[in-house]
Amino acid sequence: MSDGLEDVVAADTVLSEVDGRAGRLIIRGRSLDELTGRTRFEDVTHLLFAGFYEDLPADLQPALGAARLEVFAEVAALDTGLLDRTPIEAMRALTARLADGDNLAIALRLVAAPAVFTAAVVRAQAGEAPLRPDPALTHAADILRMLRGQTASPAEVAALDTYLVTVSDHGLNASTFAARVVASTRAGLGSAVLAGISALKGPLHGGAPGPVIEMLDAIGRPENARAWIEGALERGDRLMGFGHRIYRVRDPRADALKGAVRRLDARQGRLEFAEAVEAAALAILREKKPNRPLDTNVEFYTALLLEALAFPPSAFTCVFAMGRVAGWLAHAREQLAGGRLIRPQSRYVGPLPQRAA
Ligand code: ACO
Repeated sequence: MSDGLEDVVAADTVLSEVDGRAGRLIIRGRSLDELTGRTRFEDVTHLLFAGFYEDLPADLQPALGAARLEVFAEVAALDTGLLDRTPIEAMRALTARLADGDNLAIALRLVAAPAVFTAAVVRAQAGEAPLRPDPALTHAADILRMLRGQTASPAEVAALDTYLVTVSDHGLNASTFAARVVASTRAGLGSAVLAGISALKGPLHGGAPGPVIEMLDAIGRPENARAWIEGALERGDRLMGFGHRIYRVRDPRADALKGAVRRLDARQGRLEFAEAVEAAALAILREKKPNRPLDTNVEFYTALLLEALAFPPSAFTCVFAMGRVAGWLAHAREQLAGGRLIRPQSRYVGPLPQRAA
């Protein structure tokens, strides 16, 4: 048995390839470099959905804009009980209100849901009224407008598109596997997406970037980095934003996102500080964990980028879901198209009955 299913191949996919030794990510035949900086989120969603959803329009922007408006009706269900929850729990609860099923219209509403519900929850938690989607905008531009109430700059929209495209799919990660398991039971696309959100929420998967900001804030100054990091490792804590199950070298997504932060150019001081903390963390991890190659993962510069775009750290995982939902929905359909029910075996290691019944 492989602990944590490490190295187990559980699906054939045409969607993405993660090469952990070369530090390379391919999404439907395109390298990350080819995709980032020039691709809108709508376009990578189209790329992932092509061949898996019937009647896919050539440009997904109008249909996704219409889907944002449709799901906004559910924002009326945001009550004080939900507003006391974390943004991802509130967003998940609103997503669970959408009709389940298996067609393109349902899939597009599920793509729209994390974006519309997160913006509404963040605003409502800050005492501001949720803003109605503008279907004429691109998905990234509308997310930033719904969050802040103002039009975002083209550079900010490009940065958010880079983020959403970068995280849109990544092999059989924990949340995608969860989504494929649920899809394999034919429960519906909504159920598969809820499974994905639930798996993503954990700090070992998509929940890491909020704690990256906490770490940077606790360190405060570059000269404090070594003592703080050594103390954390001595307590047995993990450094958020470092290490990966597949990558044995630097996660290629880290540099794609670091480049996006650099292009925003308003926050170079923060970026330089983060680079100093990263360098200290990598040096100390090499000293303390010589047997395990631990490098920077996607979450470290995700934290910097989403902070620069004014998302509150409590909502970072929700923004991850806004991008990864495209991958979950493509994998769900790929699973339905060719896969059987996913039902592995467990090995019983408990006590045997004392006597035969
Ligand atoms: N900080 C310190 N030590 C670490 C870290 C880390 N970030 N990551 C792994 N290790 C150590 C473990 O303590 C363990 O050491 P030991 O053998 O001395 O006990 C060894 O490396 C192997 O750890 P595993 O848990 O077996 O490695 P796994 O492949 O399961 O972990 C994971 C991958 C969960 C991402 C891990 O590296 C981690 O916890 N990172 C921090 C959280 C994080 O950044 N998550 C986001 C990942 S990217 C994503 O999912 C989108």
